Amino acid sequence: MAIRNIRQEGDEILKKKSREIQEIDDKLQILIDDMIETMHKYNGVGLAAVQVGVLKRLVVIDIYDDNGPIVMINPVIIKTKGEQEVEEGCLSFPNKFAKVIRPTEVTAEYTDRDGKRMRVKAKELLAQAICHELDHLNGELFIEKIIPGTLEYVEPEKD
Ligand code: NI
Repeated sequence: MAIRNIRQEGDEILKKKSREIQEIDDKLQILIDDMIETMHKYNGVGLAAVQVGVLKRLVVIDIYDDNGPIVMINPVIIKTKGEQEVEEGCLSFPNKFAKVIRPTEVTAEYTDRDGKRMRVKAKELLAQAICHELDHLNGELFIEKIIPGTLEYVEPEKD
């Protein structure tokens, strides 16, 4: 496995729409493993393939509960419910945090890395993470939907 380079704010690829995945092959499995490792290295809750420069509809999410990382291939949101005002960040904007409005509940469908079509009903942080990561697949960034006046800058941590 390998840590991938995370594309940062200003990189035009972050605004591009990712393409459907047709085949779950060995190359995709390596990408999935690398994305999970990269997300964990930077303590992220989620990472979309576009953030490591690959325009494929693939995201990994880990809310650090007992279920471990979730791999979502070609995910779609079927239903949303409620609203929550939540603090949000992004590994492509490592020094920026802001509040956004997200649904409190999200039902999503996706294909897992074994090729099985799955459905998840997510709440709170997982619902937020799914919305944030799926936005990436359409070139949408959290920074464009923040609640005005809530943007905070944080000094990057030194390695
Ligand atoms: Ni992000």
